[in-house]
Amino acid sequence: MDDSRPRFARFILDEIGSIRSPGKFERQLWAWIEHGPRENRESFRNEHGPSFSFVDFSEHRQLLKKAKSGVFAWALASVRILRSTLLQSTAYNPKMTNFSIAVIPGDGVGQEVVPAALTVLKRIGQKYDVEFTFDNYEWGSDYYLQHGQMMPADALDKLRASDAILLGAIGHPDIPDNVTLNGLLLPIRRAFDQFANVRPAVLYEGVQSPLAGRKGGDINMVVVRENTEGEYAQVGGFLYHDQPEEVAIQTAVFTRRGIERVVRFSFELARNRNKKKRVTSITKSNAQGYGMVLWDRVFQSVASEYPEIETESLLVDAAAMNFVRRPETFDVVVGSNLFGDILSDLSAIVVGSIGLAASANLDPTRRFPSMFEPVHGSAPDIAGRGIANPLATIVSAGMMLDHLGLEEAARLVDGSVTAVLADGKARTPDLGGTATTADVIAAVLEKIG
Ligand code: NAD
Ligand code: IPM
Ligand code: MN
Repeated sequence: MDDSRPRFARFILDEIGSIRSPGKFERQLWAWIEHGPRENRESFRNEHGPSFSFVDFSEHRQLLKKAKSGVFAWALASVRILRSTLLQSTAYNPKMTNFSIAVIPGDGVGQEVVPAALTVLKRIGQKYDVEFTFDNYEWGSDYYLQHGQMMPADALDKLRASDAILLGAIGHPDIPDNVTLNGLLLPIRRAFDQFANVRPAVLYEGVQSPLAGRKGGDINMVVVRENTEGEYAQVGGFLYHDQPEEVAIQTAVFTRRGIERVVRFSFELARNRNKKKRVTSITKSNAQGYGMVLWDRVFQSVASEYPEIETESLLVDAAAMNFVRRPETFDVVVGSNLFGDILSDLSAIVVGSIGLAASANLDPTRRFPSMFEPVHGSAPDIAGRGIANPLATIVSAGMMLDHLGLEEAARLVDGSVTAVLADGKARTPDLGGTATTADVIAAVLEKIG
């Protein structure tokens, strides 16, 4: 034990010396704070803001017990010293200027909309003196046709080293979707514990909603989708394959921890958005008496910690109706993996087009890189024609900037997209226009300046 102290101290000093980015810094702090007492984490949250307020501390109870003895006690004391000194240290640069971004354009229109977002990010880099290193990975269906797998065996290790991931779309008409999606997109969401899939739906000025009487600004909601378990848990199998008596079992997995963290995330989001301060929970607990009932109970219990946030629980069928009937009443909507998937296509079309729907797959604890991608798929019906709407991916890139701490740049991207849509000149066919992807990129770049 005595021997390990100097080594530990040196390790910390080395690490302080090597801190170059808040992403890495946060990950290291996370590792230390995992072994610290509750007050330590609370004050860390206070100092570092909302991104840490979603952490569910209860899961670390075992570690806390261990922290009372042995080497953990030493680690704990070190964390206290770290907190008081290191956070003010000049080695900590809260505004990072160098980011490594893993880029996976993927299939179909992914190959068109991702380059569009990259031109925007490059311009942002110049404007804000931020250096982006883009590592381009040509994984996906073509890779599969050549190698028999969607991405190489070490793909997750490569991605893990990045600060964020930008993804286009996955899906090929000649390859079964369960092969392509379970070979690339879904494993990334799970492996990097990106449990909160944030999908905003905003009716922009100048965009026509298919619903009568709604104008720009009327609809502004966020669907938060549980992204790691539920109906997407891939637990099950086939029995008597291809026989007349064939059986398929597909099990949904709901865990208290999984529900609690995404529900808490949603309440924090409603609080931080500071709009209608309402969280709507979506289930089907009238028919599914276990997982969905657990969801309802956990929702109620987390809701009691947020008395200032109004709550609503809807069955998913009624929610589908109300997304059309009264979309303006929603603020944050939280649902399971499948329900969130379905409702976010609905919310996308209610505000004009899936070509505008952005998303962030977040690991709010920042242990792993988060992934940013449009909600839409590879759109084989329009791929290769140069008419895909790039705005969903550009807005997703804006969400990535925000996540990386570049809030001002994120606001500029959002503002530029808003201005292009309000002008109404550069509109792709999904928005009723005749513009090409290139026209829209040019318009956005002009607004960014
Ligand atoms: P899709 O989102 O690809 O297309 C649905 C409709 O929306 C199509 O008419 C398409 O032309 C249109 N559309 C989509 N993106 C657009 C854009 N940027 N601009 C203009 N119009 C756009 O959904 P789909 O047709 O059900 O699926 C096609 C493939 O994509 C399938 O293989 C599916 O599994 C996959 N998929 C992947 C993702 C993903 O990678 N995240 C998401 C959804 C679907
Ligand atoms: C999405 C997509 C994916 C999902 C598919 C392609 C697996 O529809 O991102 O919304 O259901 O998560
Ligand atoms: Mn979907």
